[in-house]
Amino acid sequence: MSIRRSLIAGFAAMGLMAAGAAGVWAQGEWKAPASEKGKANPEKGAAAIAAGKKSAATNCVSCHGASGKGDGVAAPALTPKPADWTSAKVQSESDGEIFWKISNGRGPMPPWKHLPEKERWSLVAYVKSLKK
Ligand code: HEC
Repeated sequence: MSIRRSLIAGFAAMGLMAAGAAGVWAQGEWKAPASEKGKANPEKGAAAIAAGKKSAATNCVSCHGASGKGDGVAAPALTPKPADWTSAKVQSESDGEIFWKISNGRGPMPPWKHLPEKERWSLVAYVKSLKK
């Protein structure tokens, strides 16, 4: 093999390794784009929380559990595990970030873009109401 060809092969291998590392990274931290984080929740107060709780009972409890602790009936089969909404990690995220994650999903967490925006913001209000 010429030097030139082995150099090209070397760079190709490095590219594959970088892609592999990026794949692992995607399984790690899950972050919303900066532009989404600052969005304010237009759905606030007791009515929004009640509406979010109702939607969660229909759409989310199978994985996140009845009290949002990530212990739904489907949870043992999932990797990564459904998030514990009461955890400091989830509670420390902005409304906009949680809204974006609910809308887009990742891995076993389905995207919920088909739910009306109002309902998704109500879910955010409900999740945030679970702060310990
Ligand atoms: C089929 C199982 C499943 C269902 C149904 C489901 N989730 Fe999830 N959810 C997950 C999993 C698994 C994760 C973790 C994903 C990850 O970390 O990559 C997750 C993560 C999340 C997170 C992100 C927590 C964080 O900040 O990192 C939020 C918020 C969330 N779910 C809300 C919801 C809401 C609201 C619903 C209902 C509308 C819902 N989920 C329905 C499985 C599910």
